[in-house]
Amino acid sequence: MSVTVRVPAKVNVQLAVGGVREDGYHDLANVFLAVGLYDEVTVAPAETLTVTCSGPGADQVPLDRTNLAARAAELLAARHGIDPAVHIHIAKDIPVAGGMAGGSADGAGALLACDALWSTGASRDELLDICAELGSDVPFSLVGGAALGTGRGERLTVLPVGGAFHWVFAVADGGLSTPAVYREFDRLNEGVDVPAPVASPMLLDALGTGDAAALAGALANDLQPAALSLRPSLADTLTAGTEAGALAALVSGSGPTTAFLAKDSDAAAVIAETLLASGTCRSARVASAPAQGATIL
Ligand code: C5P
Repeated sequence: MSVTVRVPAKVNVQLAVGGVREDGYHDLANVFLAVGLYDEVTVAPAETLTVTCSGPGADQVPLDRTNLAARAAELLAARHGIDPAVHIHIAKDIPVAGGMAGGSADGAGALLACDALWSTGASRDELLDICAELGSDVPFSLVGGAALGTGRGERLTVLPVGGAFHWVFAVADGGLSTPAVYREFDRLNEGVDVPAPVASPMLLDALGTGDAAALAGALANDLQPAALSLRPSLADTLTAGTEAGALAALVSGSGPTTAFLAKDSDAAAVIAETLLASGTCRSARVASAPAQGATIL
């Protein structure tokens, strides 16, 4: 017997970052949008807790207890007095260390899969609590759709989305470490009185009406200067996608994946092809949004 869960990637359509807090995290107004690129997490009973991974970038994924999927299994098992003896297989399609919450997706996926395998009867709120313990972006991977994350990004308010949005994601060579990007944000803002992060009413309105042009005008990522400072070549990718007709271009989360909003699916296909031909990225993926959160297959 095994359980497989499909979990989406995310793009931050707004990532407003406040000053650093006492606990080292940053207060955020983080508008998440789930996009149709997925990892699949399969769990099956085994002698001990083990993790395997296949797919693009699988060799970069840790297979020890630091993997969020393994930690999810351990946390759920500990709460319910269960031995976390499962084999977890991650079939990767979300770029690894790409700023698209791939690791968080695997944590949420393993949690939902183990919960079903063990029939724990955990409530949705308990699962969301465990997600928040695993990481700031993990609750959103469970929920999907669109949501505003406040606090360190883990406190979610579901947002209405009025239509489909068509995206292209340019996958870069190598990853960027999220803590390193936040440290660079702090370095770039040294001595600056960083304002409290607030979600943009225009952006929330554009999501709600499904208006791609309006959303394009409101996209914002406060981590983008930090990601560009650590990886200046991303500027060339952003330019290539914009010249190919994207309504807007931005770094996805902490990067180095870059995201391009297209007018429609045909425009997205052209942008993806042009980006790939430009030689400024490793691969280019088309995906539409919103996507459903973690789902048992
Ligand atoms: O919560 P998570 O473990 O995913 O966060 C990874 C890292 O990203 C943190 O250790 C911290 O350096 C940074 N971070 C932050 N402020 C947030 C979320 C993450 O500084 N709100």
